[in-house]
Amino acid sequence: MTTPSLLTRRAFARTLLAGSAVSLAALDELDAAIAQKITALNQKFLDDEAPDGAYWEEIRKLFEFEDRFIMMNNGTLGPMPKSVFNTLMRYFRVQVSNPYDGYNYLPAIRESVRDKLAAFVNASPDEVAITSNTTEGLNFVINGLDLKAGDEVLMSNLEHPGHIGPWKLKEKRAGIVIKEVPLSATARSVDEIVGAFAAAITPRARVLSISHTVFITGLIMPLRELSQLAHDKGLLILADSAHGIGMLDLDMKALGIDFFASSPYKWLGAPTGVGLLYVRKEAVDKVYPTVVSSGWETNAAASKLDPSGQRSDAMLYALDEALNFNNRIGKSRIERRIKVLAARLKQELAKIPGVKVHTPADPYLSAGLNAFSMGGALEAKLVDYLREKYNLVVRTTGNAKAGTFGVRVSTPIYVSTKEVDMVVEGVRTLLAHKA
Ligand SMILES: Cc1ncc(COP(=O)(O)O)c(C=O)c1O
Repeated sequence: MTTPSLLTRRAFARTLLAGSAVSLAALDELDAAIAQKITALNQKFLDDEAPDGAYWEEIRKLFEFEDRFIMMNNGTLGPMPKSVFNTLMRYFRVQVSNPYDGYNYLPAIRESVRDKLAAFVNASPDEVAITSNTTEGLNFVINGLDLKAGDEVLMSNLEHPGHIGPWKLKEKRAGIVIKEVPLSATARSVDEIVGAFAAAITPRARVLSISHTVFITGLIMPLRELSQLAHDKGLLILADSAHGIGMLDLDMKALGIDFFASSPYKWLGAPTGVGLLYVRKEAVDKVYPTVVSSGWETNAAASKLDPSGQRSDAMLYALDEALNFNNRIGKSRIERRIKVLAARLKQELAKIPGVKVHTPADPYLSAGLNAFSMGGALEAKLVDYLREKYNLVVRTTGNAKAGTFGVRVSTPIYVSTKEVDMVVEGVRTLLAHKA
């Protein structure tokens, strides 16, 4: 059997098109070979011996990229490892060719995926709902909370539309009051951030609703400290962590958060269409479900928030394999790798006159999203330059009026310092030629 790393794209496509019995076995073998490959790499390169270099070069080969394509915008959508794609195809094939099994046997995996997802973020399975994406998870919580006219919700000025929209809807329908707490685009300390929210809490405040992973600046909000503040003041706390799963070594118990929504297709390698919604045990009965069928009245677990009706179970199998893939490498190793690459990028950028790095240097307040500005409308030019010269994808982000407009660069595990340096070269070149 050809090992996955040696399998060409064309041969891989042929495998998928082969007769179903043969290809199901072939896909299983491919996945097993990828698992063995990671085990062998782990044995060869001990955890603390490979911050960069050969280990990660080999891991990169386990992803399915177009030739020379470099994805450094995981913040929007990340790639899948080959084994995740294999798994997705394997179970879509069941649905295509045997719909009876599609409803009879495929859904049986749901609870075991919930268990694995819960363990991945150090939560209990009855605290995990499986949604479609972060926006859906945020909508489910915000729509389902029983808030009254005049109740206040505190948000920051750095929130995503998928988080602002559902609160605006609630404002219109229930008369709640949204209070925006302005954070400086250069907020650099835990005290500054926690202090800004603490100062805004009034006796009408009910919910602190904030980004964990700020999509504009790359700031990682100090959730543990903010949860402490919220609970000390009797508030619930909701975190929009669209980028968190697969980027950070998450621990719900340590964070103490009430609600946490994340999208595993950005950094974890899952397909679009599956999402995590964590609800702390003590908060489950505070949320009504939104998309229901029978049984919601008696379900006391977070699974009551799973959207009801037929869903694509092939996605669940693929999510399961994405969790396996990340578990094999190790969550803390992944977080460390992402932060090592990010630190190099930020350090190099900070040396260049004219560049303003918007992301904190502190690894407690930052991770794999890195944002910076160059001035002179060079940001959009950099996006084009990197794509044309290196086939490397980044994006612009932020808002000029708020002083946050810039370029956003993700540093996922499958890139190396070589790709980080391509970004730095682009910045230097464009600034040198600005006339
Ligand atoms: C901070 C933040 N929240 C929410 C979202 C929406 O995520 P999704 O489209 O996966 O629901 C994004 C998307 O990038 C985001 O960056």
